[in-house]
Amino acid sequence: MICKPGKQVSAASRESGCSVTTPCGGHGNCGKCKIKVIKGNLPVMTMDRVHLTEEEIKAGVRLACQAMPKETVVIEIL
Ligand code: FES
Repeated sequence: MICKPGKQVSAASRESGCSVTTPCGGHGNCGKCKIKVIKGNLPVMTMDRVHLTEEEIKAGVRLACQAMPKETVVIEIL
């Protein structure tokens, strides 16, 4: 899935029809909305560090509800 800059990844996924599951409503509390960056860069956010392992972060895993790309990125919904 392609996400444009300035749009939260979870919202972009809903609009594209391949929605990421957001059990906590996108508040960053559950850690269940994992996605993986395939191309581009997504900054690591505070709640990523709370819910993800260092290995996941290095592999490009992020929380969709916290992810706000600054460039066009390609992501995979996990
Ligand atoms: S929806 Fe719960 S952490 Fe993203």
